[in-house]
Amino acid sequence: MAQLLLFSLFQLLSLAAMASQAAHPAYDDSPLCAVSTDAELTADIISSKSVKLEEYGNGRIIDITHAYRPDMPNFNSTDSIGMVVSLRESMANGSLYNLSELKIVVHTGTHVDAPGHMYQEYYEAGFDVDSLDLVVLNGPALIVDVPRDKNITAEVMESLRIPRGVRRVIFRTLNTDRKLMWKREGDTSYVAFTTDGAQWLVDNTDIKFVGVDYLSVATFDDLIPAHLVFLKSREIILVEALKLDGVKPGIYSLHCLPLRLVGAEGSPIRCILIK
Ligand SMILES: *[C@@H]1O[C@H](CO)[C@@H](O)[C@H](O)[C@H]1NC(C)=O
Ligand SMILES: *[C@@H]1O[C@H](CO)[C@@H](O)[C@H](O)[C@H]1NC(C)=O
Ligand SMILES: *[C@@H]1O[C@H](CO)[C@@H](O)[C@H](O)[C@H]1NC(C)=O
Ligand SMILES: *[C@@H]1O[C@H](CO)[C@@H](O)[C@H](O)[C@H]1NC(C)=O
Repeated sequence: MAQLLLFSLFQLLSLAAMASQAAHPAYDDSPLCAVSTDAELTADIISSKSVKLEEYGNGRIIDITHAYRPDMPNFNSTDSIGMVVSLRESMANGSLYNLSELKIVVHTGTHVDAPGHMYQEYYEAGFDVDSLDLVVLNGPALIVDVPRDKNITAEVMESLRIPRGVRRVIFRTLNTDRKLMWKREGDTSYVAFTTDGAQWLVDNTDIKFVGVDYLSVATFDDLIPAHLVFLKSREIILVEALKLDGVKPGIYSLHCLPLRLVGAEGSPIRCILIK
């Protein structure tokens, strides 16, 4: 109890510190320049104003969803995602209207995993994204910074001292510092949960919402086993590739809504934080 209280005080203090900072909408909607090499692209993007906290209403609302840019990385691939929206009918070609089509791998960009992603029996039983609990996806959430020199192991999880009763946690890692979601190529050296880290969370916390800042909640080396640990109970919801650029650790009201894709084991998801 005392620990929980101290923890809350600390969070309130850090929230107060945040509130005193000058807040202004940081989003620059000018298109990113088309450049030829990855090095140039990365340098260009890192200097771009888009890689910033995106806040609205004097900082009341923070968008933690990545925009679907054609140059966004694909998991474990040298190709970026490319165009996910394209015109099927266009006024420029004489049509009465413009009409676009969306074509996307459901685990692209900021997205959610359903239990059927890695358990065939859950897939067959219909545990798709439309079965995900909106109560888990919406409510108070803690954003924590994790140590930058390790993956999220059992030892790291223990060191974070996340109190029992906390149900939603978003883990901000080295991935955000490295701006991995702003690279054109998928990077398999991202930070995420090891299998023992996932097991520690399942065994020792009440966390049901796990959010991370790259395309997978599990490290590349532990890709399947760590996912299996999380998805086994069907109680934990995994949201991947959240946009945490400039977001301060603390407590927020989290709101996430997946698309109602019947039969799909994943979905793009829009997540925002409200202070
Ligand atoms: C990653 O990509 C390589 C090369 O295409 C492929 O051989 C490998 O199976 C992929 N691994 C995963 C886990 O997707
Ligand atoms: C418009 O017409 C051009 C030339 O026929 C064609 O290449 C293009 O795909 C068309 N675009 C759409 C959106 O219909
Ligand atoms: C319709 O699509 C064309 C490209 O074919 C684009 O130039 C135009 O701005 C679009 N118009 C609207 C109203 O979206
Ligand atoms: C995390 O694990 C991946 C392998 O899955 C590795 O490439 C990476 O260097 C590790 N990151 C840290 C910070 O230890």
